[in-house]
Amino acid sequence: MANSNRICIIGGGVIGASIGFHLSEAGCSNITIVERTNIACGASGRSGGFLAKNWRSGVEGKFSESSFLAHSELAKRLKNEFSIDVMYRRLTTYNISVSETPDKKSSIKQTNDNQSLPKWITADIREKEILGNEDTTAQVHPGLLTNALVKVIENRGGRVIIGKANGFLFETITTHTEKDEHHQTSPIRAIKLLIENQEPIEADIFVLAMGPWTYQAAPWFRDAMIFKENISHQLDIISGVKAHSIVFKGNQPTEPYAFFLSYRSNDGNILDPEVYPRSNGDIYVCGFSEQHTQNLSDSGNSVPIDENSCERLRQIAMQIASTLKDSNVEIKQACYLPQSHDGIPIIGRLHGLNNVYVAAGHSCWGILNSLATGAQLTQLILKGEISPYLKQCDPGRFFRHTSHK
Ligand SMILES: Cc1cc2nc3c(=O)[nH]c(=O)nc-3n(C[C@H](O)[C@H](O)[C@H](O)COP(=O)(O)OP(=O)(O)OC[C@H]3O[C@@H](n4cnc5c(N)ncnc54)[C@H](O)[C@@H]3O)c2cc1C
Ligand SMILES: *[C@@H]1O[C@H](CO)[C@@H](O)[C@H](O)[C@H]1NC(C)=O
Ligand SMILES: *[C@@H]1O[C@H](CO)[C@@H](O)[C@H](O)[C@H]1NC(C)=O
Ligand SMILES: *[C@@H]1O[C@H](CO)[C@@H](O)[C@H](O)[C@H]1NC(C)=O
Ligand SMILES: *[C@@H]1O[C@H](CO)[C@@H](O)[C@H](O)[C@H]1NC(C)=O
Repeated sequence: MANSNRICIIGGGVIGASIGFHLSEAGCSNITIVERTNIACGASGRSGGFLAKNWRSGVEGKFSESSFLAHSELAKRLKNEFSIDVMYRRLTTYNISVSETPDKKSSIKQTNDNQSLPKWITADIREKEILGNEDTTAQVHPGLLTNALVKVIENRGGRVIIGKANGFLFETITTHTEKDEHHQTSPIRAIKLLIENQEPIEADIFVLAMGPWTYQAAPWFRDAMIFKENISHQLDIISGVKAHSIVFKGNQPTEPYAFFLSYRSNDGNILDPEVYPRSNGDIYVCGFSEQHTQNLSDSGNSVPIDENSCERLRQIAMQIASTLKDSNVEIKQACYLPQSHDGIPIIGRLHGLNNVYVAAGHSCWGILNSLATGAQLTQLILKGEISPYLKQCDPGRFFRHTSHK
C-alpha cells in the first residue's frame, strides 16, 4: 500500500533506522534520514547488542518480548532477501562472580545448571548463575543491524543526508478552531527542518530520534507555546550516560555465550562489566557507566576516551580468559546511553504539535527495543493506534504548564 507522506527522521541510530524501516514496510517510500555524523556513530554502533526475551515485566515485558522475536525474524529476512548478515545468534547467558584476587578456598558455590562454562573461561569463579538460554537470550551486531535497516530504506527510495539539524519552520493551521484540552490535535505544524549550511527539508511528518542528543532539540520549540504549556519540556528531560567499551579483534573463541560479571575488585568495589564473544572471533567488553550529563561531544565519533577505563576493562577481560593476553585490543571507544528523567523512553507525538514525533531515551535496551519501537510508532503515525507500552512512553507526561505571572 503506497503512502505518499514525506517523512523526515532526524538521527541515524538504531531507533531512527528502525522507524524508517517500519514506515517503509508500511508503504512509505519518501523517507529522508538526516544524520549529523554517520549512521550508527553513537551507541548504536558501539553497544553490546545483547537481547533478552523476558527480563522485563508488565507491558514493557510484552513490548520487549515482541521485539526479541522480531529480531530473529528480521535477521532471517535480511539474510534471505538482502544477503545481509547482522551476526544474529541465540546465546547461553551466565552471571559469573569473580574476585580480582581469588580467595584461597575459591570454588563454585552455587549453580543452577549442570552445564560447565566453556574451557576458555580461565578465571576462578566464585559463583555462577545461568541467566538465559537459547530460547531467551540472543545477540546481534548493532552497527551492522543499523546500517542494514538504512540500506533497505535506501533500496526502497529513501535517502540519507549528512547534516546537522538545527531547527524547524512552523505554520499555524488557521482552520483549526476547536480548543482541544487533551492535546489530541494541535494547530501548529512543522513544515521544514532547518539544517546547518544546507537547504531545509520539507516534509509532512517529522521524527526526532537523536538518542542522547535529543535534549538539543528543546530550543527549536522555544517559541512554540500552546495552551500556555511549553513544548520544550518534553525533550530537555533527555541526557546521556557515558560508558566505555573495547574490542579484541579476531581469532577468539566464538561459542555462543554472553557473560555478565560481578567483579569484586581489590579496593572492595563491585564492578559489572559485560563480555560478549561474537561469531566473527571478536570479543566485545563494556562497562563503567558514568553520571548522566547534557554536556555531550558534538559527534558520536569524538566522545572523549578515558585510557584508564579501557585498560581496566582489558585487565578484567584477561583475568576471565587468559588467551586474551596474547591479543590486541583494536578498538577502544566510548558512547552515551540515552536516558530520560524517569527512566522510561519518550516515544510518541510531541504534545502541542500536529506532526512531530519523538523516540528517544531507550537507556540500556535500545538495540533490543528498537524493532518494537519502530513497529508501534509506525502504527501511531499512520493509523493513530497507540499500544499499551507507548501509552506509558507518551512524551506528554513531561508537558507541564508554564507558570505565568
Ligand atoms: C556501552 C553500551 C552497551 C550497550 N549494550 C546494549 C545491549 O547489549 N543491548 C541493548 O539492547 N542496548 C544496549 N545499549 C543501549 C543502546 O545502544 C542504545 O539504547 C541505542 O543505541 C540508542 O539508539 P538511538 O538511535 O536512540 O541513539 P544513538 O545511537 O545515539 O543515535 C542518535 C543519532 O542521532 C544523531 N544526531 C544527534 N543530533 C543530531 C542532529 N542535530 N542532527 C542530525 N543528527 C543528529 C547522532 O549523530 C546519532 O547518530 C548499550 C549502550 C551502551 C552505551
Ligand atoms: C550477578 O550475581 C551477583 C552476585 O550474586 C548479583 O549481585 C548481580 O546482581 C547478578 N547480576 C545479574 C545481571 O543478574
Ligand atoms: C520526497 O520528499 C522530498 C521532501 O522531503 C521532496 O523534495 C522530494 O521531491 C520527494 N520525492 C519524491 C519522489 O516525491
Ligand atoms: C520553555 O522551556 C525551556 C526549557 O525547557 C526554556 O528554556 C524556555 O525559556 C521556555 N519557554 C517559555 C516561553 O517559557
Ligand atoms: C564538558 O565536556 C568537556 C569535554 O569532555 C570538558 O572539557 C568540559 O569541562 C565539560 N564542561 C562542563 C561544564 O562540564
